[in-house]
Order: sequence, then structure tokens, then C-alpha cells
Amino acid sequence: MCRGLLAGKDYSKLPRVPQTARYTRILNAVIQIGQSKTKANMQYTDLRSDTVTKPTPGMLEAMMKATVGDDVIDIDPTMVDLQERIAKLLGKEAAIFMPSGTMTNQIALRVHCSPGDEFLCESGCHIYNYEQGAFAQLSGLVAKTIPGQNGLLDLEQLNGSVRPENEHSVRTRLLCLENTHNRGAGKIYSLSRIQSLCDWAHREGLKTHLDGARLFNASVATGVSLQAYSEPFESVSVCFSKGLGAPVGSCLAGSRDFIAKARRARKLFGGGMRQVGYLAAAAIYALEHQMYRLAEDHDHARLLARAVRQCNSLSLTDSEPDTNIVIFHVANEWGTASKFAELLKQHGVLSLPFGPQSVRLVTHLDVSLSQIEQATEAIKTVAT
Ligand SMILES: Cc1ncc(COP(=O)(O)O)c(C=O)c1O
Repeated sequence: MCRGLLAGKDYSKLPRVPQTARYTRILNAVIQIGQSKTKANMQYTDLRSDTVTKPTPGMLEAMMKATVGDDVIDIDPTMVDLQERIAKLLGKEAAIFMPSGTMTNQIALRVHCSPGDEFLCESGCHIYNYEQGAFAQLSGLVAKTIPGQNGLLDLEQLNGSVRPENEHSVRTRLLCLENTHNRGAGKIYSLSRIQSLCDWAHREGLKTHLDGARLFNASVATGVSLQAYSEPFESVSVCFSKGLGAPVGSCLAGSRDFIAKARRARKLFGGGMRQVGYLAAAAIYALEHQMYRLAEDHDHARLLARAVRQCNSLSLTDSEPDTNIVIFHVANEWGTASKFAELLKQHGVLSLPFGPQSVRLVTHLDVSLSQIEQATEAIKTVAT
């Protein structure tokens, strides 16, 4: 039975929009505007982020065929499948799905730490810069930032960074790393460096968390397994909505006890989802069909970087992209990053101003080689 505002109304008696010739003309005009807008959008090569990808037909089909349950009341079978796959891939006891990388990171911090605790992280990391300081707002934590080289920390920088245990100080409890590093132009941590940083943290009695939003890129670029990259950390978050091309989602992996606590926190943060198997199906499809093609995105990023190197007014923040992110500096004499992005747009390329003088380009599965070639020409034209 119908409830709410229209309860008890007979729908057939509701007033109808008259189907006059004028109405039809207006409707057609609106449809045309919509279509021309869509066409205009389709002309752009969108390099603002690898989060802009649309689900592929195969992914949509997998989503439509998914078997679902209620993941809050008890379980959703497709989600159980995804979580088990991720736990296995990352070599952890368990994993849990959440709507975003922000949530998996913030819940990891919350479970590892208590109010009045501090975590160590690199100054340019996503957790510190782009998650609204949720660690402070929601969990009562403090961050100590340490500037890295292209986002990567060195062991020597960490020495002396743990606070003494006394009643004046917050308690240093956790080290967070980001691999690949977004603001570091997709830079990859070497295994040996990760190992030495995490060994140091464990010796100091700290836990370790990895923001692996783009860990799949690191693994495909180097051939190092996801499990090897994850092994030194107590918890790892990975994203499906970046290079893998799924519409939504992130998983957090760790010990069974850690993930049980994360599940409670996810409900608290409003992240419990019901027939979420549809999203799990997209992520499983991405793992099976869209992971190994990330190498193509890395090749494309190198082509963009080569074009940047050919322009006197531009300089790369890193000599050669490790993965799918290119960040370059625009010389002051040329103008600002926003002006550069605006002109690139006029040449059909969308980019992201990443500071007053820096621009970010990110390659992904919705950008073809020919679009990359056009983008390289656009960069050179705009820069001269
Ligand atoms: C390194 C890194 N971590 C975490 C996130 C957060 O992911 P989400 O946008 O799903 O919250 C991002 C998003 O771009 C990111 O680049």
C-alpha cells in the first residue's frame, strides 16, 4: 500500500502534463541540450584523475548478475568473496569493504590508536592533506608530519620522532606510509625501504598502516607481489575506484581481530551497506580483467612526461614517472598552473592544477594511446 505524501491518492486522477505540441518541442530541446552536453564532454581527454573512469560493459554485466544479500544484517555472498580474495592477495587474515579510501584509512587510524595518540606520516600524504583532518575531527588523534623526497621517507628522518612517554605529551602509536604516493607523482617505495621503515616502527613499539590506494599500480610496475608489499604492515587499504576502474570502493585488510573492530567502526561511521554485492562484483571484475592493463597507463604516463621534458617552461617534479601520475611545475614567467590547465582544456585536455605552479595528469583505462598522443601535442602547444 502507498504511504507518505501521496498515501490514499488514486494515481490515475493526478494531474498530467498536457502533451501539447509546445510541450513536445520543449522536451525535444531539453533532450538536445543534454545530448550536445554529453557530446561536448566526450571530446575531452580527462586526465584529472584515475577516479573518473566509467564502468566497462563487462563490469556492468558482472554487476547485474551479482548474487546479493544484506551485508549489515548478516552477509552478502559476493562481498564475502571479494573480501576473501583481497585478504589472500594482501596476505592478511581478513579484509573489509568500505565506500571509500578515506574511510578505510580513517578507520585504520581509529582502530590502531586511541584519543590523545599521535601518528607519523609524510607531509604530502593523502591521510593528512585530503581527508579533512578526520583523524582529529572523528577520532581525537594528532599527526606528526615529516617531509619526504617525492613523498617517500628515509629511515634517518624517523630517528627521534617518537615522543617520550610522559603526561605532557601525546603518545606516538603509528607510522603511516603511502604507496604509490599521490602528491609524489605516483612514486613507488622499494621493498627494502619499506622494510627498514616498518622494522624501525616495530622496534619503537609502533603499529604500521599502508595507504595503498594505488598499490596495484606499484605491484604491476615492479612485479613485486601485493602480499610482499603488504607484509611489513599491520593494516593495508587498497582502492578499486582508482586505476582498477570500479565505480566505488576500498578494502582494509589486517588481522581478524583488527577487522572485527574495523567493522564496528564502519557501522559507527555510517558505512554499513546492504546489497553491496553489486559493488563487490565490480571490484572482482576489475581485479580479474583490469589490473594487468595498468602497465599501459604507466607507458602512457611516460609519453606525457616525455612531452613535458621537451618544454622549456615546464619541469617534472620527478625525472620519470614510476606509475600513472605526472606532476609538472609551470615556470612563473609562463604563468600559473590554473592558466595552463585552462588552455589545455581549450585543446581538449582536462588536467588538475595541483598548487599555484603545479599541474597533475593521471592516466587510466578510459584514455587511449591516440588520446595520449593528442594530449602530448596539446601540452607542447600550450607550453610554447
Ligand atoms: C593516496 C590516496 N589515498 C586515499 C585516497 C582516498 O580515496 P577516496 O577518494 O576513495 O576516499 C585517495 C584518493 O584519491 C588517494 O589518492
